[in-house]
Amino acid sequence: PSSFLASLSFDKKLSYYDVTGSKAWARALERAGVLSETELKSILSGLDAILVEISKEDFPFREELEDIHFNIERRLIELIGPLGGKLHSGRSRNDQIATDMRLYSKDAVSTLIDALRKYQLALVNQAEKNLHTILPGYTHLQRAQPILLAHHLMAYFEMADRDINRLQDCFKRIDFMPLGSAALAGTAYNIDRELLAKDLGFSNITLNSLDAVSDRDFVVDIEYTASMIMLHLSRLAEEIILWSSVEFSYVKSGDEYTSGSSIMPQKNNPDIAELIRGKVGRVSGALIGTIVTLKALPLAYNRDLQEDKEPLFDVIKTLDGSLSMMSGLVTSLEFNVQKMKENSEDGAILATELADYLVNKGVPFRDSHGIVRELVQKSLDEGLDLKDLDLAYYKESSEYFDDDVLEISAKSARDARSVLGGTSENQVQQRIIEARRRMN
Ligand code: ARG
Repeated sequence: PSSFLASLSFDKKLSYYDVTGSKAWARALERAGVLSETELKSILSGLDAILVEISKEDFPFREELEDIHFNIERRLIELIGPLGGKLHSGRSRNDQIATDMRLYSKDAVSTLIDALRKYQLALVNQAEKNLHTILPGYTHLQRAQPILLAHHLMAYFEMADRDINRLQDCFKRIDFMPLGSAALAGTAYNIDRELLAKDLGFSNITLNSLDAVSDRDFVVDIEYTASMIMLHLSRLAEEIILWSSVEFSYVKSGDEYTSGSSIMPQKNNPDIAELIRGKVGRVSGALIGTIVTLKALPLAYNRDLQEDKEPLFDVIKTLDGSLSMMSGLVTSLEFNVQKMKENSEDGAILATELADYLVNKGVPFRDSHGIVRELVQKSLDEGLDLKDLDLAYYKESSEYFDDDVLEISAKSARDARSVLGGTSENQVQQRIIEARRRMN
């Protein structure tokens, strides 16, 4: 049973936060009159020595001591004698672990926000490089209307922006200090929790000790947000994968982001994008796992809560890796501008423009839609491309067609969409400028 109970193999990741929490707790105990000034000094120097051991990776971790809290306490007693045993006065491993997890999560969320910013920068840089590149926009994966590649890339910027917003929101709810809740009922010592929170860099204090030791909502918040981020990355990964196929031939990833096949010499597989796409599974799995662990837990602390750690740590590691890979991958992309342009000149994708053209001449849209649908069908049946038709051909469909119909092009279609949020060059350029401003 003892090894089944043990959490050291994974909660050692919290060493730094555990010692940080302990140092602040020692100071609070001194303020409460539980420790003398000299006792405090001695405890702090012992804890600092432990921090050094941890950073040099020569802290003597002992699996038989179950978890990180017992490991650090035992080491402190070894280093400074029985005085080390006073540190645990008035606290419990329950408020200790809740504090450690929150300290860890605040740092982790900040790291993820930085990683998302880097990813956004990679997108904006590519968008700027491709401000004039036209490709067909797709709906139902069928060519729909010509758009700017920059507009397409900036769609992912928007998703990342919402994700950053979600993380900032997570942060607000993590930023509550549970220390002082003790095992479940609150500490019996005269602890100034306001000062303690300030010491540990928390902006708020939990106000119900039962909730404080058992609340892991913030873990679910992070895992949900992480799932959303991975989901967004998987959409871009999927497009890179599709676009790398010979069928599309829209993009080439940097060599370091693809691998060859062990059997087919011609292959260049988009493995990194595929792995990012695949990792949505483990991240959303962690989310569901934590939700199920928390379901129906009675107040207050229950050992089930120890199961919050491994999934959360894995989620943070996976996100950090995926975001950094995706940033590099996006930067490495070389687009086949010619192929995109050719595909966007396929006349059929200008059908909406023709319908709009007739609307401008006074034809009700519902009728113009029908006229153009027939025109497109007829030209396709006859093996003709819309852009090769002459005016006489158009006139057969509707007398409202005039000379200027021949001026409709992918470029005119794109420039017509100058509505706020549309794909015209001016609009997209504006979005890029604003994006750079938002990132600073
Ligand atoms: N390892 C435990 C956890 O991760 C620490 C708290 C243990 N508390 C207890 N009363 N057994 O949640």
